[in-house]
Amino acid sequence: MASRETRNGDRGGLQDRSAGRLGRAIGFIRERGPLEPLRLVRRHGIAESGRFVLRNVRHVVADRLARNWDRKYGVDTAGSIRLDSLDVVGPNRDKGNECVCTSPKSFRFIMKNLPSNLSDYTFIDIGSGKSRTLLLASHYPFRAVVGVEFARELVEIARRNVEQYRDPEQKCRAIFVVEADATTYDFPETPLLVYFYNPFSKDLFDIVLGNLVSSLERYPRGCFVVYGSSSHRAIDWARPAIRETGVFDELNVPPMPHFLDAVRTIDYAVFRYRRA
Ligand SMILES: C[S@@+](CC[C@H](N)C(=O)[O-])C[C@H]1O[C@@H](n2cnc3c(N)ncnc32)[C@H](O)[C@@H]1O
Repeated sequence: MASRETRNGDRGGLQDRSAGRLGRAIGFIRERGPLEPLRLVRRHGIAESGRFVLRNVRHVVADRLARNWDRKYGVDTAGSIRLDSLDVVGPNRDKGNECVCTSPKSFRFIMKNLPSNLSDYTFIDIGSGKSRTLLLASHYPFRAVVGVEFARELVEIARRNVEQYRDPEQKCRAIFVVEADATTYDFPETPLLVYFYNPFSKDLFDIVLGNLVSSLERYPRGCFVVYGSSSHRAIDWARPAIRETGVFDELNVPPMPHFLDAVRTIDYAVFRYRRA
């Protein structure tokens, strides 16, 4: 299900910031002349310019690997999709972060640091985008896998992906995508693994976390919370917010390695509900 790409970063009708990066760089040099890169190095310094180039090379490589992964499984999960032009449920569009999916290697690394017997648990991805994590989570024997996503176009793509994705290694086929603003989502009364990959601002996170804690206090049960973030450094406020609830213990987990299939390296934290 390869999506079509145009030069202005429009891919399959969505505003995709990862589309045409290389083409844009070449266009920029053509427009400003071959000496422009040297002028930019002089203005920003070698170190900063080196970091900029590396960031972009990394992005291009990760994007290429994501598209290969999509081709292999006949799905559409790649890209950095802007939310501005999407049809969003509820009033929180401006507090949401663009849709960039967790890399398969990063996801598997996180899962290695969780207990292996989660067959009673429901995996929930808050802000599930195009469903990459749902597809990856279906390789573990969860009771069910649920994505909550507020952008209609992403929900439609995610549901098509779930239909399309078949792998002999899949261990859970009960995969659901709920179209909703995460702040209105009612958690199921099963043990939970709740996954966040930097979906939105702190005020929304506080509401969702409050809803989760209320649900756990009403029906105490096993619960893990995984919070991942990258460029926005959301982990710096998410980690203290989860600690301050006073009902979770943080697990000691190893740092994420630099995986080539990740646009950015994820900083993550894992918490376990104390009163189960
Ligand atoms: C960084 S992406 C993460 C995608 C996916 N969780 C993953 O790891 O592959 C953040 C996603 O959260 C969604 N989102 C942002 N605010 C939301 C909200 N209030 N309710 C539901 N989804 C939201 C965005 O549309 C986007 O798809």
